[in-house]
Amino acid sequence: MTFKTLDDLGDLTGKTVLVREDLNVPMADGMVTDDTRLRATVTTLCELADKGAKVLVLAHFGRPKGQPSEEFSLKKLAAPLAHVLGRPVSYIDWEGDKAAVAALSSGAIAVLENTRFFGGEEKNDPSVVERFASLGDIYVNDAFSAAHRAHASTEGLAHVLPAYAGRAMEAELKALQKALGAPERPVAAVVGGAKVSTKLDVLKHLVSKVDHLIIGGGMANTFLAARGVAVGKSLCEHDLTGTAEEILDNADKAGCTVHLPYDVVVSKEFAANPASLRTCNVHEVAADEMILDVGPAAIEALADVLKTCRTLVWNGPMGAFETEPFDTATVALAKSAAALTKEGSLVSVAGGGDTVAALNHAGVAGDFSYVSTAGGAFLEWMEGKELPGVAALEM
Ligand code: 3PG
Repeated sequence: MTFKTLDDLGDLTGKTVLVREDLNVPMADGMVTDDTRLRATVTTLCELADKGAKVLVLAHFGRPKGQPSEEFSLKKLAAPLAHVLGRPVSYIDWEGDKAAVAALSSGAIAVLENTRFFGGEEKNDPSVVERFASLGDIYVNDAFSAAHRAHASTEGLAHVLPAYAGRAMEAELKALQKALGAPERPVAAVVGGAKVSTKLDVLKHLVSKVDHLIIGGGMANTFLAARGVAVGKSLCEHDLTGTAEEILDNADKAGCTVHLPYDVVVSKEFAANPASLRTCNVHEVAADEMILDVGPAAIEALADVLKTCRTLVWNGPMGAFETEPFDTATVALAKSAAALTKEGSLVSVAGGGDTVAALNHAGVAGDFSYVSTAGGAFLEWMEGKELPGVAALEM
């Protein structure tokens, strides 16, 4: 796809640039607990400010459903954003916004109140699009992680103002293009996580795109059950074994090799370092045991598969990684992927939900070629869907 970037913008003195960022960060006791998304805004916001623009950040926070409230106000994020930017950030309420924007000086950065305080934002209501557009001259979308929403600030604005991709959006789109758009082959995908039901469309799409599909986490149990393996007390969506079988058949037809664990770590209870912990062949899981991680032999074999690949897309952990020692397989495979990436033989792209936490836990997030901070948007991209916020930037 082709889209305009900040390279296409010259001097912006006197212009007001509306920049859609994703400031939907986790908070506890008034403090930001993970500022990854704030840090992702730095390059774009500073570059625009340095080009002389009045920079106005548009973003949502939580799901206030059109109702303004203190709880979902973006006022509290002006200071943490200023901290990561290393320059002042003012806050502008929707009331009196026009005058406050007009009063901004060249190079100033301000954050506007939550876009979702307008009911029409999520409906992409043209009057709300116009309301937002009246505040600026140029629109920059830098929020890939909100691009699966066809909202006024993520999609509508791109049709009424000159539209550009911000630096974070540009980096994300380039990395994703390299991973599944026009990847170097062979391509492997690791898909883990608890439930198949949340990733059916991802799996259906991937079997036609990748050479190796590595399935781990609780969702592997449903596939094992589909192949006639008795999975004991394991988390397993037995009603989806038919769908799992279909996915396996389609993979066969498409020439995609599906890798399911052949040894597993099991326990009678789900607790840290339980007494009943043991490793066994998948065909030896007892009726009162549950599978909680992929076994060491399978992980070694999977690391060998990665050695033959040039591209890797990773979404979801291989086991119940938040509880020791069921993080072992995730950590080991993530380390193998990171080492191959460092050697230069693998392009590795990861994202979605628990994935960043799992890779951070393994201490290798920084060694992957690209780690996306997107949750739902990353999954929709892995499903092969067109993201409305991205499509609207297309030239
Ligand atoms: C996210 O946190 O994934 C994005 O900010 C999108 O938020 P939403 O799911 O509330 O649209």
